[in-house]
Amino acid sequence: MMRDILDVRKKFPVTQHKTFLNHSAYSPLPQPVVDVMKKYNEDLCHFDIDESEYSLGQEVFARLVGAEKDEIALVQNTSTGLNIVANILDCPKGSNVVTTDLEYPSVVYPWLKTKLGVELRYVKNANGSILVEDVEQAVDDQTVAIAISHVAYVNGFRHDLKALAEIAHEHGAYLVVDAIQSLGAIPVDVRKDDVDFLTASCYKWLLGPAGAGYLYVRKELVERFEPPFIGWASVEPEVFETIEFWDIWRLQLSNTASRFEIGSPSFISFVGAAAAIQLLLDVGIDNIQKRILILTKLLMDLVKRLGLSLTTPEDSEQRSGIVHFLIDRALERAKKLRKQGIIVSARSNGLRIAPHFYNTEDEIERLIQELEAT
Ligand SMILES: Cc1ncc(COP(=O)(O)O)c(C=O)c1O
Repeated sequence: MMRDILDVRKKFPVTQHKTFLNHSAYSPLPQPVVDVMKKYNEDLCHFDIDESEYSLGQEVFARLVGAEKDEIALVQNTSTGLNIVANILDCPKGSNVVTTDLEYPSVVYPWLKTKLGVELRYVKNANGSILVEDVEQAVDDQTVAIAISHVAYVNGFRHDLKALAEIAHEHGAYLVVDAIQSLGAIPVDVRKDDVDFLTASCYKWLLGPAGAGYLYVRKELVERFEPPFIGWASVEPEVFETIEFWDIWRLQLSNTASRFEIGSPSFISFVGAAAAIQLLLDVGIDNIQKRILILTKLLMDLVKRLGLSLTTPEDSEQRSGIVHFLIDRALERAKKLRKQGIIVSARSNGLRIAPHFYNTEDEIERLIQELEAT
């Protein structure tokens, strides 16, 4: 495995001059992703473009999450995907949405729109974990959705999606998942876990550019909902093919998830995203997860040895690529580390470290040494 890692690092030019441990924020692009984006721009520059040569990634994203291509819509980012879902679900008077106190704002804000008039219920974490029984207690027959991030953005706690889906469905509610902190690091299977909606951008663990995101809508649900915004991309492509079909007075929404698209996407971003997801699928998400859990376990052991407090749960079923621990002068330390070429984030009175599969044990040890010295 180690020889493979050293080999794969050649595809990551950042490794030549930095110890990048911040994949929970904004990740450096792998060389093959840059190459395909460069070629796309060159082809476009000369208008020598063969569109069949490029994919916008719906197929690879579908493969990544265990869905079908027709269940995938292109969106600009996770926040857009989450807003689409919050705006299509029916929220009758007295209804509620269950979320947690570990969420990134984008998971919660769309439901706070006063027009929705929905009550938000925040399940409180217990020592950094959200307990399934606490979610169960919060959900009732007035619950419209359980809306959570698969992996929490500060401490890396990972939900059991299947357990949450069961609770939601027992009460006629939907499971809405923000997967930006898990996809690319942790295997996801929407079919197995019975997820209704899932969305993510590609610029973190998926190692793609910003501006490209995907929204999965379970196929049985696609035609149940009218999109909140409608444009040319929301309708069946045949509408444009013959004059008879060209009926702008009649809306023929696509019967695939593309009905939630509006207009032209950022093609260049999706071309890069498709290449990035393909690269990860070639390595294998199970292999990636194994490697990430080895690196994060090593990191957690070393952090404990320094006498620092972890906020990340230690159970490997609840862990992910993110490790967070409390430390004084976190912002100052993160800045100092950056000057030494070690990239991490200061978050919630501590440091958040997020290695990907191509990082090494040496890099983790280097971080700890530098931390001891700061
Ligand atoms: C859990 C979570 N959701 C959403 C976002 C933001 O996503 P986007 O920029 O794709 O809207 C972040 C970014 O840090 C995040 O950690």
